[in-house]
Amino acid sequence: MAELKIVGLGGSLAEKSSSLAALRIALEGAASNGAPTELLDIRELDLPMYVPDLPEAVRRFNDTIYEADGLIWSSPLYHGTVSGAFKNALDWLNPLGRREPAYLTHKVIGLISVAGGTQGLQAVNTMEFCVRALRGWAVPLVLPIPRAARLRRGGQASRRGRKARAACPGSRSGPRRRSGGSCDDV
Ligand SMILES: Cc1cc2nc3c(=O)[nH]c(=O)nc-3n(C[C@H](O)[C@H](O)[C@H](O)COP(=O)(O)O)c2cc1C
Repeated sequence: MAELKIVGLGGSLAEKSSSLAALRIALEGAASNGAPTELLDIRELDLPMYVPDLPEAVRRFNDTIYEADGLIWSSPLYHGTVSGAFKNALDWLNPLGRREPAYLTHKVIGLISVAGGTQGLQAVNTMEFCVRALRGWAVPLVLPIPRAARLRRGGQASRRGRKARAACPGSRSGPRRRSGGSCDDV
């Protein structure tokens, strides 16, 4: 059987990125099942904001994505959706519309999001819209990873994190209303 190449796209602009760490683990899983893999780290790609002209670096990025049989996307959850940097990378797939077949036709895409809070599925849902717009197929099993900071600390929620959660409107232990701040950002 022919080998299926899997390309991972994701991470954040942070030096230590939990969404990149999750993506690395997923790619290791693909590699251990015999697939050749390649990682496209959003921070390393250092893509400019989308403009209609195509720089050489973006052409290579496009080629790597286009040559893959399957993709794994991993974005942090930023304000209830994917990060701007991740969305910008997807916008740079626009030139693939001129190829035959166009965009991500025939490619399957696995979806991961990593959230500070508990709402990671929102980014996965946004990614699913993008997969469809780019004519790909999202795999049914998606992976929204919640409470990234707690995971980084080996399962222990920090004092600051507990305070932030308690301050969220609707939290059982916190005030019902609070101006500013984020509910999910622990
Ligand atoms: C601008 C910004 C917005 C964020 N918005 C949310 C949010 O709406 N919900 C949430 O659960 N976490 C939110 N977070 C926390 C990130 O999802 C979390 O820290 C994640 O692990 C970051 O991924 P990274 O380590 O790959 O950078 C936000 C973080 C930033 C910097």
